[in-house]
Amino acid sequence: MPTLPTKLPAAGLTIFSQMSLLAQQHGAINLGQGFPDFDADPRLIEAVAQAMRDGHNQYPLMAGVAPLRQGLAAKLQRCYGQAYDPEREITITAGGTQGLYTALQCALQAGDDAILIEPAYDSYAPAIRLAGAEPVGVPMTADYRIDWDAVRAAITPRTRLLVLNTPHNPSGRVADAADLQQLAAIAEAHDLFVVSDEVYEHMVFDGARHESVARHPALAARSFLVGSFGKTFHVTGWKIGFVAAPAALSQAFRQIHQYTVFTVNPAVQLGLAAYLADPQPWLQLPAFYQAKRDRFRAGLAATPLRLLPCEGTYFQTVDYSAVSTLAEREAAAWLTQEIGVAAIPLAPFYSQAIERRHLRFCFAKREATLDEALARLQKLA
Ligand SMILES: Cc1ncc(COP(=O)(O)O)c(C=O)c1O
Repeated sequence: MPTLPTKLPAAGLTIFSQMSLLAQQHGAINLGQGFPDFDADPRLIEAVAQAMRDGHNQYPLMAGVAPLRQGLAAKLQRCYGQAYDPEREITITAGGTQGLYTALQCALQAGDDAILIEPAYDSYAPAIRLAGAEPVGVPMTADYRIDWDAVRAAITPRTRLLVLNTPHNPSGRVADAADLQQLAAIAEAHDLFVVSDEVYEHMVFDGARHESVARHPALAARSFLVGSFGKTFHVTGWKIGFVAAPAALSQAFRQIHQYTVFTVNPAVQLGLAAYLADPQPWLQLPAFYQAKRDRFRAGLAATPLRLLPCEGTYFQTVDYSAVSTLAEREAAAWLTQEIGVAAIPLAPFYSQAIERRHLRFCFAKREATLDEALARLQKLA
């Protein structure tokens, strides 16, 4: 049999797939992988079905259907005060993941470095490597703040871009205005691009506001802003998102997009466009997830797991040092098999061997699911 040399020698099955499999094998409640266990708004489903019945089933425009790009431009203007031209500056993608992948392919040249703030979502480093570039991991501080001095120290003449992720998976931290100012100063001083993963843009709690790169004109001018309708509207399986970037960056993005994905399901796009006309679903999202966060945290407070701050996303990170001395991967497997609740270890989100005895739970679940998981976790002594 012929064999193929791998382009990603370090890559195996992702930790999310591993933990979901383990959860299935042991009948555990899956608070590992980040997806809701409740359905989307029936109005959204009906809008998509209607678009399909209306015959929107053939290739739409490469950049995405006009009503969705227009609706998104209006939403970005309303949320962040930045005018993106729907014709030239917004592209609809097959999920945030493809937006990230294509942005990294077009912004990076072979031999470049790209800075990742670690722990970092697992799709960034492989995409950087496939572009012929090298990821450079910069660990966050012990309380999961971005260490801007460490970022500055990691920059070399090879550094081409930085990937920002706020609200941050897996820590649940949210960057503030001072973070964005630091980033803008660094990006301008070193002429860097920014790929800004903002798929959790509407999951920010306690009245804080999401600091999108789109709020900061100097950053918006050099950033690919990546979003995900899947995350915002509880339809992760639809894999639909967007990239907003200045015209020159969007043009480079579309050059690659047209030969890889080309275009995205038109009925889903049109259904989303109709659904976006009502801002209530995304305006209500912070309160919706904050209630779940509070319920979950209140239940966890009755366990020996130590709660870390959760300012945004639908992830709650805990320190399990009081329960076990196992390393994170083993602790996650133990919790799944013995306690019946699956979580995600943070160690795989680092390029270096960093072990803090931290696990991440996803609370995008029905109350009954959260309560059952809490009942099991409360058995931890
Ligand atoms: C930080 C982050 N970025 C991107 C994605 C992927 O988004 P999508 O499902 O729209 O591809 C996820 C999904 O878990 C994520 O957590």
